[in-house]
Amino acid sequence: MTQRDPHSFARPDEARVSHLSLDLMVDFAEKRLRGSATLDLVLAPGAREVVLDTRKLDIASVTNAEGDALPFTLAPKDELLGSALVVELPPGTSQVTIRYATSPDAPALDWLAPEQTAGGEHPFLFTQGHAIQTRSYIPLQDSPGIRQTYEARITVPEPLVAVMSAADRGAFAAAAQGQRIHAFEMRQPIPSYLIALAVGAIGFRATGPRTGVYAEHTLLDDAARELDEVEKMIDAAEALGGPYRWDRFDVLVMPPSFPYGGMENPRLTFASATILAGDRSLTTVIAHELAHAWAGNLVTNATWNDFWLNEGVTVYLELRMNEVLWGADRAALLRVFGSRELSAEIERLGATSPDTRLRYDMTGRDPVVGVTAIPYLKGAAFLWALEDRVGRARFDVWLRGWFDRHAFSSVTTDALLADLQEHLFDGAALPSDTQRWIDEPGLMAEATPSPSRLLEKVDASAAALSAGGSVDSLEAAHWSPQEWRHFLGTLYRGEVSHTVLAELDRTFSLSSSKNAEVLFAWLRLGARMHWDPALPVIERFLAQHGRGKFLRPLYTELVASDWGATVARRAYAGARMRYHAIVRNALDKVVHPA
Ligand code: BES
Ligand code: ZN
Repeated sequence: MTQRDPHSFARPDEARVSHLSLDLMVDFAEKRLRGSATLDLVLAPGAREVVLDTRKLDIASVTNAEGDALPFTLAPKDELLGSALVVELPPGTSQVTIRYATSPDAPALDWLAPEQTAGGEHPFLFTQGHAIQTRSYIPLQDSPGIRQTYEARITVPEPLVAVMSAADRGAFAAAAQGQRIHAFEMRQPIPSYLIALAVGAIGFRATGPRTGVYAEHTLLDDAARELDEVEKMIDAAEALGGPYRWDRFDVLVMPPSFPYGGMENPRLTFASATILAGDRSLTTVIAHELAHAWAGNLVTNATWNDFWLNEGVTVYLELRMNEVLWGADRAALLRVFGSRELSAEIERLGATSPDTRLRYDMTGRDPVVGVTAIPYLKGAAFLWALEDRVGRARFDVWLRGWFDRHAFSSVTTDALLADLQEHLFDGAALPSDTQRWIDEPGLMAEATPSPSRLLEKVDASAAALSAGGSVDSLEAAHWSPQEWRHFLGTLYRGEVSHTVLAELDRTFSLSSSKNAEVLFAWLRLGARMHWDPALPVIERFLAQHGRGKFLRPLYTELVASDWGATVARRAYAGARMRYHAIVRNALDKVVHPA
C-alpha cells in the first residue's frame, strides 16, 4: 500500500503512471505549451479509472493507444491542489494520451522577456515543479511517492535550445519553418517534481568527463571557470553515497528571476547566477544539489511531510563533502553557522510550533510553507547526533547502505526509522530520544556542534569592533567570504555606528563585493542601521537579483521604517513583474501588507 499523499488526488494503488511521453510545442507569443502527454499505466485488477493531477490546463481530448476517445471528467478546482482529471479506462486500456495546452499563468512556468535575460535578445522559459507545480504543465500523478521514466520531444523556435532533466537525444528540424525539435530521455524512474525544462539562447561547455555547464552565451566563460571542480565534488560524494547513478551532472546557470540558489533537477541542476562569485566560494550550493542525487533523487521523500528526508540528509552530505573538498575548518564553520541559523529559525517560528518538528503535517497547506531551516538543519543535526552516537565508521556504512537499499524508491520517515533500527542498531531499540527528534517541536539540546576555531576569531573581532575598537585593527584582510558573512551577520544582531560602517566600506570595499552572499549580508546590515549610503546599492541589488532568500529579508528590513519604505515600494513597483511568481507571492505580503 502506498503512503497516502495529501497533496495529490492520485490513487496509485488502483492505477499508477509508470512512463510519460511528452510532445510539446513552446509558444512564447502566447506563453503556452501545447501538445500531448502519453501515460503508461500499471493497473490493479479491476481498475476502472485513473486519477491525475492538473492545474489550469486546457484539456482538448483524452484518447487510448488506438486514438479512440476516452470519457473523462475534470473536477472543480481546489485552490491548493488544482483539478483532478479522472479518465475512464475500458478493460484492457493501459495507455492514455491527453492533448492539452497550459495557461499563461501556470505556476510552474516562468516566461521571461528578452530584457530579463543576460543576453537581452531572446526570450527564456524555465519550469519549477518542486513541490506541487508540475501538474500545471503536465497532467500526471504529481506526488513524490510515484516514479516514472520519461521521454520528451520539445519544439522550439530557432535559434533557441531546449534542455531537460534527462539525457539529450539530439535535435532535428521540425515540419514548421524555423522550428527545431529537441529530444530527451530519462531512463531512471523519477518523481514528477524532478521533471524540468528550460528553453533559451543557451550554450554548453564541458568541464570534465561527466560534467559541464549550460548558460546563456554571455555567462558561459564565467560559469565554466567557477564550476571547474565539479568532477571532484562527484568523487567526494561517491565516496559517501556510492556510485553516481545518473551518468552526467551538468549545471544550468539561470537568469536572474530564478527564485532559488539551486534546484536538483536530475542530470541538470538549475543554479542561480548569484553563485558565480569568481572564486568558487559559493559552489557549496552545487555540492548541495549534487548531494540530492542521492538524498532526494535516488531515495525520495514519499510525501512532502517527509521533506526533511530530502533536505536534512542532503545538508549532512553537503557538509561532509565540504570537509573533504575544502577542509575541516570550513566544514566546522558552516556547521556552527547552521546551528545558529537553526536556533534563530526556531525562535522565529516559536519553540512549540508544530512546524518545528522534523515530521511535518502539511495537509491542507502548500508544502512551500515547510521550506524553512527546520528540514535542512534540524534534519542534518539529527544525523550528526546519530553519527556521534555510533561513530563515523559505522554511520558511514549505514548511510551508504540506506541509499543502496532504497535506490529509486520513495520513503517515509517510518521507513527510515525501521531501516535505522535494523541496520544501524542491529535490531536493538532505537536511542530513546529518537521519537523526540522526529515528532517533537523545538530544539534538541544535543544539536550544538563543537565550536569552530575560525568563527571564534571572527566573533572576537566583531565583539572588539562593537566595543569601540577600530576598523584598522581588524585582521580581516585574509578572511574568506564565509568569515565575512558571519562577521556581518554578527554585527547585524548588535549595533554599529555609521562611522564604523563608512570605515568598513572604505577599507574593504564591501558595497562592491562580487560575492552575492557577502553583499547581501552587508546591505542587510546597512539597512538595519539606516545607513544612507547603502540605499542606492540596495535599490540596484533589488533590481538585479530574483533570489527569494536575499529579497525577502532586504524588503522586510526596508519596510520596517520610514527610512526605507519609500525605496522598498519604488524598487518593488519596478521589479515585481520580473520576479518569479513564487517570490512575488511572498513579497506582496511583505511590501504591501493587508
Ligand atoms: N530543493 C531545494 C530547492 C527547493 C526547495 C525548491 C523547496 C522548491 C521548494 C534545493 O535543493 C535547495 O535546498 N536550495 C537551496 C540551496 C542551499 C541550501 C545550498 C537554496 O536555493 O537556497
Ligand atoms: Zn536542497
